[in-house]
Amino acid sequence: MINVMDIEYRKATCEDLDGIYIVETNCFSIPWSKLSLEIDLCQNKKALYVVALYNGRIIGFCGMRVILNEGHIMNVAVLENYRGIGIGAALLKTMFALAPGYVDQYTLEVRVSNSAAINLYTKLGFFGVGIRPKYYADTGEDALIMWTNKNTP
Ligand SMILES: CC(C)(COP(=O)(O)OP(=O)(O)OC[C@H]1O[C@@H](n2cnc3c(N)ncnc32)[C@H](O)[C@@H]1OP(=O)(O)O)[C@@H](O)C(=O)NCCC(=O)NCCS
Repeated sequence: MINVMDIEYRKATCEDLDGIYIVETNCFSIPWSKLSLEIDLCQNKKALYVVALYNGRIIGFCGMRVILNEGHIMNVAVLENYRGIGIGAALLKTMFALAPGYVDQYTLEVRVSNSAAINLYTKLGFFGVGIRPKYYADTGEDALIMWTNKNTP
């Protein structure tokens, strides 16, 4: 039984690369390469990543890139055994809290079939604004483009 009080959320650093990569490769059919994650985590001054740790092990993370006043969410992932207990929502809320003050809206793309993620984003104030047809190379699936209103969340 996981005690949610024992889960720690904090800004990720370059040292978290290996743990983040394990979560990434476990959670996505087309994972980012380790190099792409490394560039974001260790070099990109406009990227912000947050990790969830349980007993010192990274069990989830999310990341975004800041473009002007917009936070572009690149990835949110939680290891399967830890899903459904609020970690995805807590990761995103932590990232919003740590984002620079001038970021006042957020956007992302999500597979139209990914109802768990769409529900998570909707719960946090995101809404669908359009479709990118055949966005995902592995299945040709469409992406739903979601945004938040300014200052929400
Ligand atoms: C999407 C994901 C990050 C959600 O993480 P999580 O920790 O399980 O989410 P939470 O427990 O914080 O759930 C928050 C809300 O999301 C929605 N949700 C989460 N899992 C769901 C599921 N299996 N079915 C439907 N809705 C779900 C619910 O609205 C939930 O709120 P509720 O508990 O009040 O009903 C997780 O399923 C995951 O890692 N999936 C694989 C990677 C992925 O698809 N990432 C998104 C890419 S865009």
